[in-house]
Amino acid sequence: LLIQKNLHAPFDVQTFNEVDSTNTYAKKLLSQNKISDPMVIVADKQTAGHGRRGREFYSPKDTGIYMSMVLPIKDNEVFDGGLITTMTAVATVHGLKQSYPNVNFQLKWVNDIYVNNKKVSGILTESVMDVELMHPSALIIGIGINLNSNHFPKNMGRPIGAISDNKVDKNKVVTDILNEFYKLYPNYQKGEFMDEYRDLSMLINHQVQIETHRGLITGKVVDFDHHGRLILDDGNETKSIMTGEVVKVHF
Ligand code: BTN
Repeated sequence: LLIQKNLHAPFDVQTFNEVDSTNTYAKKLLSQNKISDPMVIVADKQTAGHGRRGREFYSPKDTGIYMSMVLPIKDNEVFDGGLITTMTAVATVHGLKQSYPNVNFQLKWVNDIYVNNKKVSGILTESVMDVELMHPSALIIGIGINLNSNHFPKNMGRPIGAISDNKVDKNKVVTDILNEFYKLYPNYQKGEFMDEYRDLSMLINHQVQIETHRGLITGKVVDFDHHGRLILDDGNETKSIMTGEVVKVHF
C-alpha cells in the first residue's frame, strides 16, 4: 500500500499485509505509549476483525479496506467521539465517491454505509482511557469497507454487500478518505456536515424500530440534529435519540 503519495492530512501511516485487527493493533501501540500524533493503520487482511456489539467483521485479503485512525486526545480537550464517528461516515462517502462517482451511497444511522439496500461499510470507534487521569487518551476510529467480495462464508459474521465489480485503486480510496476526514475535522463540533448526512440518510420519513439502552422504540424518523441525534416521531411526541441500533426499517 502506498498511501503517503497524495496524503494531505497529518497522519503517520503504518501498513500491513495482515494483522489481527487494526483497532486491536492501535490499542497495543497506545498501551506502549507509542502514539503521540494522529496515525492511521491500514491492513490488506484482518484475521480477527470485529464490529460493533462484539460482532465479527469478515476481512478477506484484497477485496476490502480495513483501517483505523488513531487520534490522541489532550488531557483537557473537549471532544465528542459520537459526532466524530458520524462525521467519519460522511467523510468516507466523500472519499468513496471519488472512485465510484456513479454509485448511490446511503447512510443508515448511526454510521453504516449502504449501497442498494446492502451494508457495504461499518465504523467501530473505541476510546482508550488514561487510568491515572480518568480521561480518554485516544480515539480509535476503525473503518471497514467491502469493495468487491461476494463470497462470505456463512459462519463469518453478517454478510455485507459489495460496492461494485469495478476494480479501483485501494491506495487512492484510503488516501481520499483520510483527506476528506481532515477537511471536516477542524470544524466538526459545529455539526454542519449533518445537513449532508440528512441528504444521504436512507431513514428519513421511514418508520423504524430502534434498540436503545432503554428498550425498543418505534416511530417515524423526521430528522437528525447537529449533534448527530436521530429525531423520531412516535405518534405522540418527538424524541431525540443519542445512540442505538436500527433493527427494522419499513420502506
Ligand atoms: C460494524 O459494522 O459493526 C463496524 C465494523 C468495523 C470494521 C473495521 S475494519 C478496521 C477496524 N478493525 C476492526 O477490527 N474493526 C474495524
